[in-house]
Amino acid sequence: MKIRQLRQDENPPMDLLLLADPSRESIADYLERGECYIAENEAGKVIAVYVLLSTRPQTAELVNIAVCEEEQGKGIGKKLLLDAIQRARFKGYKTLEVGTGNSSIGQLAFYQKCGFRITSIDYDFFTRHYEEKIYENGIWCRDMIRLTLDLV
Ligand code: COA
Repeated sequence: MKIRQLRQDENPPMDLLLLADPSRESIADYLERGECYIAENEAGKVIAVYVLLSTRPQTAELVNIAVCEEEQGKGIGKKLLLDAIQRARFKGYKTLEVGTGNSSIGQLAFYQKCGFRITSIDYDFFTRHYEEKIYENGIWCRDMIRLTLDLV
Protein backbone atom coordinates (compact mmCIF):
# COMPACT_ATOMS: atom_id res chain seq x y z
CA MET A 1 0.00 0.00 0.00
CA LYS A 2 1.26 3.47 -0.88
CA ILE A 3 0.09 6.68 0.81
CA ARG A 4 0.54 9.91 -1.14
CA GLN A 5 -0.93 13.39 -1.47
CA LEU A 6 -3.67 13.76 -4.06
CA ARG A 7 -2.43 15.78 -7.04
CA GLN A 8 -4.20 18.98 -8.19
CA ASP A 9 -5.21 17.27 -11.47
CA GLU A 10 -6.81 14.25 -9.75
CA ASN A 11 -10.41 13.90 -8.58
CA PRO A 12 -10.85 13.32 -4.85
CA PRO A 13 -12.35 9.89 -3.97
CA MET A 14 -15.86 11.18 -3.12
CA ASP A 15 -17.30 7.72 -2.44
CA LEU A 16 -14.74 7.21 0.32
CA LEU A 17 -15.01 10.75 1.73
CA LEU A 18 -18.80 10.32 1.97
CA LEU A 19 -18.33 7.23 4.17
CA ALA A 20 -16.99 9.52 6.89
CA ASP A 21 -19.08 12.63 6.27
CA PRO A 22 -22.56 12.77 4.69
CA SER A 23 -22.23 16.46 3.80
CA ARG A 24 -20.90 17.09 0.27
CA GLU A 25 -20.85 20.78 1.14
CA SER A 26 -18.49 20.42 4.09
CA ILE A 27 -16.31 17.94 2.14
CA ALA A 28 -15.95 20.47 -0.71
CA ASP A 29 -15.08 23.17 1.81
CA TYR A 30 -12.28 21.30 3.59
CA LEU A 31 -10.91 19.79 0.37
CA GLU A 32 -10.43 23.37 -0.82
CA ARG A 33 -8.61 24.43 2.36
CA GLY A 34 -6.86 21.21 3.46
CA GLU A 35 -4.51 18.53 2.14
CA CYS A 36 -5.96 15.27 0.85
CA TYR A 37 -3.95 12.03 1.08
CA ILE A 38 -4.90 8.75 -0.57
CA ALA A 39 -3.81 5.15 -0.07
CA GLU A 40 -3.46 2.94 -3.14
CA ASN A 41 -3.18 -0.83 -3.16
CA GLU A 42 -0.71 -2.78 -5.32
CA ALA A 43 -3.13 -2.61 -8.28
CA GLY A 44 -3.26 1.21 -8.02
CA LYS A 45 -6.83 1.26 -6.64
CA VAL A 46 -7.59 4.01 -4.12
CA ILE A 47 -8.70 2.17 -0.96
CA ALA A 48 -8.50 4.87 1.72
CA VAL A 49 -8.31 8.60 2.22
CA TYR A 50 -7.68 11.25 4.84
CA VAL A 51 -7.78 15.05 4.88
CA LEU A 52 -5.60 17.20 7.11
CA LEU A 53 -6.61 20.79 7.80
CA SER A 54 -4.75 23.58 9.57
CA THR A 55 -7.22 25.10 12.04
CA ARG A 56 -5.52 27.23 14.69
CA PRO A 57 -1.88 28.14 15.26
CA GLN A 58 0.08 24.91 15.88
CA THR A 59 -3.10 22.84 15.55
CA ALA A 60 -4.25 20.60 12.72
CA GLU A 61 -7.48 18.65 12.43
CA LEU A 62 -8.03 15.32 10.73
CA VAL A 63 -11.34 16.27 9.13
CA ASN A 64 -11.97 13.04 7.23
CA ILE A 65 -10.57 9.51 7.30
CA ALA A 66 -12.11 6.55 5.53
CA VAL A 67 -11.18 3.06 4.37
CA CYS A 68 -13.28 1.33 1.68
CA GLU A 69 -15.74 -1.12 3.22
CA GLU A 70 -14.06 -4.33 1.91
CA GLU A 71 -10.73 -3.30 3.46
CA GLN A 72 -11.95 -2.16 6.90
CA GLY A 73 -10.76 -3.99 10.00
CA LYS A 74 -7.38 -4.95 8.48
CA GLY A 75 -5.21 -2.27 10.09
CA ILE A 76 -5.33 0.16 7.15
CA GLY A 77 -7.14 2.91 9.09
CA LYS A 78 -4.49 2.74 11.80
CA LYS A 79 -1.69 2.99 9.18
CA LEU A 80 -3.37 6.08 7.72
CA LEU A 81 -3.85 7.66 11.12
CA LEU A 82 -0.19 7.05 11.99
CA ASP A 83 0.79 8.58 8.63
CA ALA A 84 -1.36 11.67 9.38
CA ILE A 85 0.23 11.98 12.84
CA GLN A 86 3.74 11.76 11.35
CA ARG A 87 3.00 14.34 8.67
CA ALA A 88 1.38 16.74 11.15
CA ARG A 89 4.37 16.40 13.49
CA PHE A 90 6.81 16.94 10.59
CA LYS A 91 4.93 20.11 9.57
CA GLY A 92 5.46 21.47 13.07
CA TYR A 93 1.97 21.14 14.53
CA LYS A 94 1.84 20.59 18.28
CA THR A 95 -1.69 19.21 18.46
CA LEU A 96 -3.81 16.99 16.23
CA GLU A 97 -7.58 17.00 16.71
CA VAL A 98 -10.42 14.85 15.44
CA GLY A 99 -14.15 15.01 15.98
CA THR A 100 -16.76 12.28 15.81
CA GLY A 101 -20.40 11.76 16.71
CA ASN A 102 -21.59 10.63 20.13
CA SER A 103 -23.12 7.61 18.33
CA SER A 104 -19.89 6.62 16.52
CA ILE A 105 -18.89 3.93 19.00
CA GLY A 106 -16.44 2.15 16.64
CA GLN A 107 -14.72 5.41 15.66
CA LEU A 108 -14.38 6.43 19.32
CA ALA A 109 -12.67 3.07 19.97
CA PHE A 110 -10.46 3.49 16.88
CA TYR A 111 -9.18 6.97 17.82
CA GLN A 112 -8.59 6.10 21.48
CA LYS A 113 -6.70 2.92 20.51
CA CYS A 114 -4.44 5.19 18.44
CA GLY A 115 -3.69 7.45 21.43
CA PHE A 116 -6.30 10.23 21.14
CA ARG A 117 -8.04 11.43 24.31
CA ILE A 118 -11.48 12.98 24.65
CA THR A 119 -11.05 16.68 25.38
CA SER A 120 -14.43 18.31 24.82
CA ILE A 121 -18.01 17.91 23.63
CA ASP A 122 -19.65 20.27 21.17
CA TYR A 123 -23.25 19.83 22.28
CA ASP A 124 -25.89 19.74 19.51
CA PHE A 125 -23.28 20.16 16.76
CA PHE A 126 -25.07 17.68 14.48
CA THR A 127 -28.58 18.97 15.19
CA ARG A 128 -27.37 22.48 14.35
CA HIS A 129 -25.40 21.62 11.20
CA TYR A 130 -27.25 18.69 9.60
CA GLU A 131 -30.84 18.88 8.38
CA GLU A 132 -31.53 15.13 8.61
CA LYS A 133 -31.57 13.35 11.95
CA ILE A 134 -28.66 10.89 12.09
CA TYR A 135 -28.98 7.54 13.89
CA GLU A 136 -26.09 5.13 14.35
CA ASN A 137 -25.90 2.03 16.56
CA GLY A 138 -29.46 2.90 17.61
CA ILE A 139 -28.25 6.20 19.10
CA TRP A 140 -29.33 9.68 17.98
CA CYS A 141 -26.19 11.48 16.84
CA ARG A 142 -26.43 14.94 18.36
CA ASP A 143 -23.09 15.89 19.89
CA MET A 144 -19.58 16.13 18.46
CA ILE A 145 -17.01 14.40 20.67
CA ARG A 146 -13.65 16.09 20.17
CA LEU A 147 -10.45 14.10 20.69
CA THR A 148 -6.89 15.37 20.82
CA LEU A 149 -3.39 13.97 20.44
CA ASP A 150 -0.33 15.87 21.68
CA LEU A 151 2.37 15.74 19.00
CA VAL A 152 5.25 16.94 21.20
N1 COA B 1 -14.99 -0.99 17.01
C1 COA B 1 -13.96 -1.21 17.87
N2 COA B 1 -12.65 -1.06 17.53
C2 COA B 1 -12.39 -0.66 16.28
C3 COA B 1 -13.39 -0.42 15.33
C4 COA B 1 -14.75 -0.61 15.73
N3 COA B 1 -15.77 -0.38 14.87
N4 COA B 1 -12.82 -0.03 14.14
C5 COA B 1 -11.49 -0.07 14.37
N5 COA B 1 -11.23 -0.43 15.65
C6 COA B 1 -9.94 -0.64 16.28
C7 COA B 1 -9.38 -1.97 15.78
O1 COA B 1 -9.80 -3.03 16.61
C8 COA B 1 -7.89 -1.72 15.89
O2 COA B 1 -7.46 -1.92 17.23
P1 COA B 1 -6.02 -2.54 17.59
O3 COA B 1 -5.03 -1.44 17.26
O4 COA B 1 -6.13 -2.82 19.03
O5 COA B 1 -5.85 -3.75 16.73
C9 COA B 1 -7.75 -0.22 15.59
O6 COA B 1 -9.04 0.35 15.85
C10 COA B 1 -7.35 0.03 14.15
O7 COA B 1 -8.30 -0.63 13.30
P2 COA B 1 -8.16 -0.65 11.71
O8 COA B 1 -8.37 -2.04 11.21
O9 COA B 1 -6.91 0.02 11.31
O10 COA B 1 -9.43 0.24 11.30
P3 COA B 1 -10.04 0.43 9.83
O11 COA B 1 -9.04 0.12 8.78
O12 COA B 1 -11.34 -0.29 9.76
O13 COA B 1 -10.32 1.99 9.82
C11 COA B 1 -12.12 3.57 10.11
C12 COA B 1 -11.15 2.59 10.80
C13 COA B 1 -13.00 4.22 11.18
C14 COA B 1 -11.30 4.63 9.37
C15 COA B 1 -12.98 2.74 9.09
O14 COA B 1 -13.76 1.79 9.79
C16 COA B 1 -13.89 3.58 8.22
O15 COA B 1 -13.49 4.02 7.15
N6 COA B 1 -15.15 3.80 8.64
C17 COA B 1 -16.11 4.58 7.83
C18 COA B 1 -15.74 6.04 7.77
C19 COA B 1 -15.67 6.67 9.15
O16 COA B 1 -16.53 6.46 9.99
N7 COA B 1 -14.61 7.49 9.35
C20 COA B 1 -14.40 8.19 10.62
C21 COA B 1 -15.32 9.35 10.73
S1 COA B 1 -15.19 10.08 12.35
